[in-house]
Amino acid sequence: MRRPLIAGNWKMHLTPSEGAALATTLRQRIGMRSDVEILLCPSFVALQAVSEVIRGSEMKLGAQNVFWRGSGAFTGQVSPPMLCAVGCEYVILGHSETRGRFGVNDPDLDTSVLPYFSETEATLNRKLCAILPHGLKPILCVGETLAEREAGHTESIIRAQMEGALQGVAGDELYDLAIAYEPVWAIGTGRVCDADEANRVCGFIRQTLRDLYDDELAETVRVLYGGSVKASNAHTLLHQPEIDGALVGGASLNAEEFEQISYCAPKR
Ligand code: 13P
Repeated sequence: MRRPLIAGNWKMHLTPSEGAALATTLRQRIGMRSDVEILLCPSFVALQAVSEVIRGSEMKLGAQNVFWRGSGAFTGQVSPPMLCAVGCEYVILGHSETRGRFGVNDPDLDTSVLPYFSETEATLNRKLCAILPHGLKPILCVGETLAEREAGHTESIIRAQMEGALQGVAGDELYDLAIAYEPVWAIGTGRVCDADEANRVCGFIRQTLRDLYDDELAETVRVLYGGSVKASNAHTLLHQPEIDGALVGGASLNAEEFEQISYCAPKR
């Protein structure tokens, strides 16, 4: 049975001391839960502080990105061994905010800068291949924009994102993979995807794993939903049969809200 994964993506919020304070509260409230897996993904600079707070609890630590080389002249980048050294177990890969839609919610954004931040399937594939030998578990984000959805391209976009990121990776290396369905139009907008539709697309993701690999992998990989998840909508989303957890943005910055979301997960 797939254990629900409730992950908080803190994005570019919280200093190390603020992150440690939130992690301390969460540790007290839900730190020893074993029915669900609780994951915190702070910014790079807060990883160490949060790691120290959650050590000895059941909570897990994840990074929001990684670079594919182990070391070298790559100014501003963080390598897989560095993440392992601070206690990370997971890495978010291919979030829409790093896939070339970076900063689109910024009203002052000059869109000509976007390509400098954009991630491609090829860079994601390198990152995925780089973290697996270190035992880091990928959370691969996929999802369509509103324009892509309205054009009827949701499935083809997601399949291409999965094929690109997983290219050349053997199924037996992917048992710890999680895939997060994050429709871009639902992220940070308060416009949550309807639970039936989120379940349908998560089922499509599982079917794609079955097509690309086999039944066993498809039944093992956890498929999460992300995009405006809150305590008020989490119960319905998390009780869908194809949804194995949530990747929570804004609501994960509030201890009470995140705790409530974690209690919405079904006992499996
Ligand atoms: P929100 O929950 O703020 O919509 O963000 C979702 C997300 O992008 C998680 O990775």
